[in-house]
Parts: sequence; structure tokens; C-alpha cells
Amino acid sequence: MSDLRVEICGIQFKNPIMPAAGPPTWNGDAMVACAEGGAGGIVAKTISTTAAVVPEPCMAQVGKASMLNTELWSELSPEEFIEREYAKAKETGLPLIISLGYTADQIAELAPKVRPFADALELSTHYIGEDPAPMIAAVSAAKDAVDVPVIVKLSPLGREMKAAAQAAQEAGADAIAAINSFGPCLGIDLETGLPLMGSEEGYGWLSGQAIKALALRCVFDIARTVDLPIFGVGGVSRGTDVIEMFMAGASAVQLCTAAILRGPSVFGKIAREMDEWLDGHSYSSINDVKGLTIRKLEERAFRTTHLPPALYEELCTGCGLCETSCVYQAITVVEDKARLDESLCQGCGLCATRCPTLALVMP
Ligand SMILES: Cc1cc2nc3c(=O)[nH]c(=O)nc-3n(C[C@H](O)[C@H](O)[C@H](O)COP(=O)(O)O)c2cc1C
Repeated sequence: MSDLRVEICGIQFKNPIMPAAGPPTWNGDAMVACAEGGAGGIVAKTISTTAAVVPEPCMAQVGKASMLNTELWSELSPEEFIEREYAKAKETGLPLIISLGYTADQIAELAPKVRPFADALELSTHYIGEDPAPMIAAVSAAKDAVDVPVIVKLSPLGREMKAAAQAAQEAGADAIAAINSFGPCLGIDLETGLPLMGSEEGYGWLSGQAIKALALRCVFDIARTVDLPIFGVGGVSRGTDVIEMFMAGASAVQLCTAAILRGPSVFGKIAREMDEWLDGHSYSSINDVKGLTIRKLEERAFRTTHLPPALYEELCTGCGLCETSCVYQAITVVEDKARLDESLCQGCGLCATRCPTLALVMP
């Protein structure tokens, strides 16, 4: 069993996997369910000074493991959370991160009221635009109002992540969460021709597996820019996704879509998968893989020469995935074994990423 514990801004988490602000933490009972499902901490649904009025429908599955949403912030009033819901979440004994939105005035009003329940605040920047000024003002308002760590959650609105993270650090943020859902995007109901989302323009925000590569890039950029802990968010649904987030520089992960589509037991499942991967690769702690990709990239020699993959015939099952997608026709499966013609291989690497048994490995 590996050591899955992490410490961020002085807060101890028993594992680094927790619900992101969203439907899995929409009220106290839902937050308790996340704790029972094995989460290492809780990020409550974003509240603002008034309850949101949400266009319906506001959630749809797109593809196998992604979603569109147009949910805004909590439809419960801040009073309901403060009087009832946060206290239930606190009973779990897990660290509670309270998500607030959006402007400096709203944060100044809400932060002191939620402080009795908060181990940290997370500020959503989803609706305050590209200009860093409102985000900087919101961070200052939070820092002036309370003494708990302040996490800034960045949205990938085309926003340059490095500059946004730098501005957040200079404003006094203690940590960054990245990313919020991506958009605007459009999904269509084939039968009616209507947009899937009930928002005025029909737009929605993309989350889940479809944004994992974008989230990894953002975490990677932020980790190379600022000296702040990062909560990696976006497309985490398996133990290996957590490992990748840590390799990119995250110190913990949050997930929303996988918890909606698969239920709150997903947290414990992902923790177990992560543990198995670490054990299988002889790592004693999740912290050992942190930032690995940043270090590896620095060591890697840039090349444009075509190098073929190594082919381990004994591992090949003859499934043919490599042959199907080798547009250069360098691979053919003969008698249930892949054969590689190195003179035709362009060294693109695709086959190695598709091979399910690691029979093809890029140099
Ligand atoms: C239905 C839905 C509602 C969400 N509501 C919020 C919210 O209230 N506050 C927030 O900061 N992020 C919200 N998010 C964004 C998620 O917290 C998360 O950043 C994003 O979905 C990417 O993570 P995922 O791929 O694991 O879902 C919401 C996401 C979804 C799918």
C-alpha cells in the first residue's frame, strides 16, 4: 500500500482525490455521500450572494464520459448552505473547501459568513472574464476577510494560463485549481434538432474525458510558472489520470463529471487504482511522481528524425489495432503477430499509444 496522503497549504488530506464544485456536492447529504465513497476532501458547490436561476435542461452526457452543462452556481441560497448544508459536510471530518463566486464585493460579503466551516476557500473566476483585474480584486477581498488558504480556480476561456496563474500568485492566492469546464460548446438533440442545453444561445460547457488533455496542459503550464500547489481538475476518472495530473505538477485532483456519471463510490475506486499503479511501479508515495513530466521534458533531446518503435513480439496478441491505423502501412499482422517494416515506418508513435499490451514502445 502506497502513501496516498497529501498536505496542501497545511491541510492534511487522507488521499488526493476529491469532488470538484458541482452537482456531486450540491448539498450536505451529497457531500456526505462523497465522503462515504472514499473522497479525501470536499469542495462544496459554488455559492454566490443570491441563488442561481438555472436554464433547463442544464446537463447532458456527450460521448462516453463527457458532459455539457449550463448549471451556473448553486440554486440553494447562501443562507441555506450556511444554516444547514456546510455543517453536515463538516461532520464527515474531511477538509471542507468552500467555493465562492464571483466579484470582490460578493466575496467580501460571503467569506466571513462561511469562515466557521471552511478549511479553505476556492474562488470561481468563471463569470468574471479574461481580464485578471476582477480576479485579483476577488483574491484580495478573500485574503482581507479570512485567515484560511485561498484557492483560485481558473477557467480555460482561451485565457493564457501562465499569466493568469502569475496574477493569482501576485494577488496572494495560496493555491490554484485548474480547470473549470471548457466552452462555450454546442450539443444537439438529433431527434428534435434543438440544442441539448436550455441556455439562451443553447451553449453549454464541456467537462470530463474530452477536456483531460487540455486540463493536463494547463496544470503543466501553471506548475512551470508559479510556486503554488495545484488542484488538477478536468477529465479525471481513473487512477492513472491522477498519476498523470501529478506528473504534470498537481498536488491533488478534483473531479466532477466522473462522480456524476458513475456515482460517489468513484472516489474510493480511483484511490485504489492509483494505489495499485504506484505499487506496481515501485513508488512508495504519490508525491514521488509529482512534477515528473516537467523534469523529463527538460532532459529530453528534441528530435525530428524518424525512429521506429521497439516491437516486443512475445507481448503481441495480434489484435491488429496497430495495422488498422498505420497509415504508412509499416505494420502488418501475420500469424497473430505484428511485423514492422522499419523502412516504411515514419516514427509517428501512434501504434505505441494504441497497443493494449505494451508490445510496441517508442524510444
Ligand atoms: C454540471 C456541472 C456543474 C458545475 N458547477 C460548478 C460550480 O458550481 N463551480 C465550479 O467552480 N465549477 C463547476 N463545475 C466545473 C467542475 O467543478 C470542474 O471544474 C469541471 O467539470 C472539470 O472537471 P471534470 O472533467 O472532472 O468534470 C461544474 C461542472 C459540471 C459538469
